[in-house]
Amino acid sequence: MTVRLVHTIAVLRKELAAFPAVQTRGFVPTMGALHAGHGRLIHRARAECDQVMVSVFVNPLQFGPKEDYTGYPRTLQEDCAFCDARGVDILFAPEAEEIYPRPQLTFVEVSRMSEPLCGRFRPNHFRGVTTVVLKLFHMIQPHRAYFGEKDAQQLALIRRMVLDLNLPTTIVAVPTVREDDGLACSSRNRYLNPQQRQAAVVLYRALQAAQNQIAAGATDPRQVQAAALAILQQEPLARVEYLELVDPDEMQAVTQITGPARLAGAIWIGSTRLIDNVLCQPPG
Ligand code: PAF
Repeated sequence: MTVRLVHTIAVLRKELAAFPAVQTRGFVPTMGALHAGHGRLIHRARAECDQVMVSVFVNPLQFGPKEDYTGYPRTLQEDCAFCDARGVDILFAPEAEEIYPRPQLTFVEVSRMSEPLCGRFRPNHFRGVTTVVLKLFHMIQPHRAYFGEKDAQQLALIRRMVLDLNLPTTIVAVPTVREDDGLACSSRNRYLNPQQRQAAVVLYRALQAAQNQIAAGATDPRQVQAAALAILQQEPLARVEYLELVDPDEMQAVTQITGPARLAGAIWIGSTRLIDNVLCQPPG
């Protein structure tokens, strides 16, 4: 095994100092249970950077009191082998007490953009994400950081945080990796039983149908959303949380489709919450 597994900030600092000639440090933040989507982020980082760091940290600050923090899959041994096989230099896997040795009183929040979509149903979720990402950026000092487009709102918020706080890190967006039937890869897919797994693809099918309508010239978001909702409602195992067309930069609802827009949705299949989104392009 060549990847260096590090659990504390003190050792992380020593490890980073031991690589003085690094030109480009690439960073892939994750919560572990690594899958092909993470593999794509690491692959891109490996191709573009001379040092690649991955973090595996299930961040308590971004889970609500009734959410799956305790049950979230923790598979550090497999994650370590996954990183090793992909040429990762350092895997940082701290315990919660290392990142939050005392109650966190300082937060970073990207206002307005964190309110719609997931923010409406997961209060404080994005505050937890941006706070931990900023802490990790301070610890790791990456030149480039890699995020998946599957979490489009998270990606937009982090881009904005980097701009607003003048951080010296380039944010790289990596396209969503999908399973053969189109379901977006997610660590939470492993919660699904075979019947639920089959049903879960309905989200992508609904998004695709809307994407096709927009490509064919539909301009009314309500009409497009209604068509996608009709597809979701045909799947008895799916419960829709939201489905909304937003502008790709600021994540605010669009009232007329005149340019690229992102259609984002969240559904529940049993007790598993799944999200996905597609970029929709009007003709021309
Ligand atoms: O996308 C995730 O896995 C998490 O939200 C992140 C960015 C690692 C922060 O905990």
